Amino acid sequence: MNIFAHIKSKLSILEVINSYTTLKKAGLYWKGHCPFHSEKTASFTVSPHKDIFYCFGCHTSGDLVSFISQIENCSPLEAAQFLADRYNIELPTSVSYAQNTQKKKRYFEICTIVADWCHKKLLSCPPVLRYLASRSIEKPESDYFHLGYLPGGPQALRIFIKQMAQNNILVEDLIQSNILVKGKRTVYSPFEERIIFPIQDHIGRYCGFGGRTFKPNDDRPKYYNSRENDYFIKGSLLFGLDLAKKRIQKTEIAFLVEGYTDCIAMIKAGYHNTIATLGTSCTEEHLKILSRYTQELIVLFDGDKAGQHALVRLASLCWQVTLDLKVIPLPTNEDPASFLEKGGDLASLINDAQDIFSFFVATLAKDFATKPLMVKLKQAKKMIDVLHKIDDPLKRDILLQRASEAMQIPFSSLQAAATAKDRETPASTGDLINNTDRKESEANSTPNNASQAVLVNDVFCAIMNDIAIFNKHNVKYLLSFFPPQMQKILMVLNTKIEKEPSGVSFSQFFDELELNDRYYVSQILLKETEKKDDHVFEYLIMQLQKRHWKAIAHAIKKKIERAKQENNQEHIIQLLQDFMALKKKMVGKNLI
Ligand code: UTP
Ligand code: MN
Repeated sequence: MNIFAHIKSKLSILEVINSYTTLKKAGLYWKGHCPFHSEKTASFTVSPHKDIFYCFGCHTSGDLVSFISQIENCSPLEAAQFLADRYNIELPTSVSYAQNTQKKKRYFEICTIVADWCHKKLLSCPPVLRYLASRSIEKPESDYFHLGYLPGGPQALRIFIKQMAQNNILVEDLIQSNILVKGKRTVYSPFEERIIFPIQDHIGRYCGFGGRTFKPNDDRPKYYNSRENDYFIKGSLLFGLDLAKKRIQKTEIAFLVEGYTDCIAMIKAGYHNTIATLGTSCTEEHLKILSRYTQELIVLFDGDKAGQHALVRLASLCWQVTLDLKVIPLPTNEDPASFLEKGGDLASLINDAQDIFSFFVATLAKDFATKPLMVKLKQAKKMIDVLHKIDDPLKRDILLQRASEAMQIPFSSLQAAATAKDRETPASTGDLINNTDRKESEANSTPNNASQAVLVNDVFCAIMNDIAIFNKHNVKYLLSFFPPQMQKILMVLNTKIEKEPSGVSFSQFFDELELNDRYYVSQILLKETEKKDDHVFEYLIMQLQKRHWKAIAHAIKKKIERAKQENNQEHIIQLLQDFMALKKKMVGKNLI
């Protein structure tokens, strides 16, 4: 029996799902409101006989493990583990695996018991509560985040140790979990006399702590965070993620702040979709994790130099993930908590949030004229390094144009530098063109270092030379990745083809175009008159699809959702078929 079958055999699907939505018996099924989409009438069903669930509204379905992996946004294996932990199920696996899971389980268990203990302690400790109140952190917030307090001094620690022992947690366990440290004669805790911010991983397991000093005369470092170990890796953890993830998915926006207290202040102010890094800079891993829940991330940073530096770093990271990053630089010396505390108007700052690349250009170009030549060169290179990676050619050009104005460097020079950079690092757009692709492309004599702009241009020219290929190759899902004029022209073509499925001649299409678009197309046809081989064209299309796969998938899924809302069955089926066909092709070519 594999781990999934084992878990399922030990649990009742009804019991587990009932903890996410209230189910009521309705004939052979149990019914409730769907936890995956909001609805007024219950259309979510669970069949305990067949061990499956199905929603008549959003069509989500599956077994217990897939329910957990969808609702907790984790892999099936993590889901099985999650269920095993939550319902205390022993896993029958090989000894080493079992040992490892035992160790892991034990660690989370220790953290949970410590978190609970400290939380209880906090409630009976007026000075700490007073400090928190002075920071506007009241009972609802300290309950929501399960904040705690670890008292200090030998006597208090003795009590802590004794009560831990009653929970079968020994001093050795606490030392191993870095909650206690062995001193010369006794043990002490780096967390003692600190307010405890327990940290949960993305599926809600307590895995570490942040501890803040609160006494005015305490001159230790302000925060002490748990040491990293296999289950506490700061670069892939976000404070508050488990609590915020549902809201993030629902609102499709996440706010990222730097401090625990900022995260708490944001939640208190109603921004429930806020998370915080753990005192380290935001990593690519953080962005990847967040991109599983949302397409849009708004980063709130201190307006000081360090904050700006962090954002410039982020700009060079975020092109690797499909996340629209926006930034809100706060006034100097303010963090989100202090800004909100003073009654600052965050909503209007959010409205004015700047695209990260615009911010990046503005920051790098500031006072450019007054800088020494070497610095100028360095800044310009940094600018090109980041901007040349932007996939959307129009966005890239607009930003280069802005940079050109601010830095007083001719646009053409910046553009040439960016194109040169593309050539210099053929695989710089991630691993998008891998080695075999490159060989293949050489054989086809298409540019192996095709930048996005060149690629898009090639595809457009090929279509203008042979409009029939537009329909053959699912180009319509790529429309939004063409610059506006090409997009407009292709849209005309798409509409024409849809109206006349039997076939459209070039002149019929051409007649539909506006005058300046006709001129544009004629220019292209004058320059390039060669029809592309079908497989060369397919190769180009694939490259484009690969670059934008996530966005395409997202867009189709959105369309499907909309069609569902409109109850347009035909359209849903059509979209699903298109999606499956596209996906099959991509998978077949090993592109996703
Ligand atoms: P901040 O100094 O901005 O902390 O550091 P904060 O959360 O706003 O705390 P308050 O407002 O002073 O109470 C941001 C984050 O950096 C980490 C913590 O994770 C903190 O939340 N940090 C800061 C440390 O790890 N160690 C430190 O000594 C200071
Ligand atoms: Mn602060």
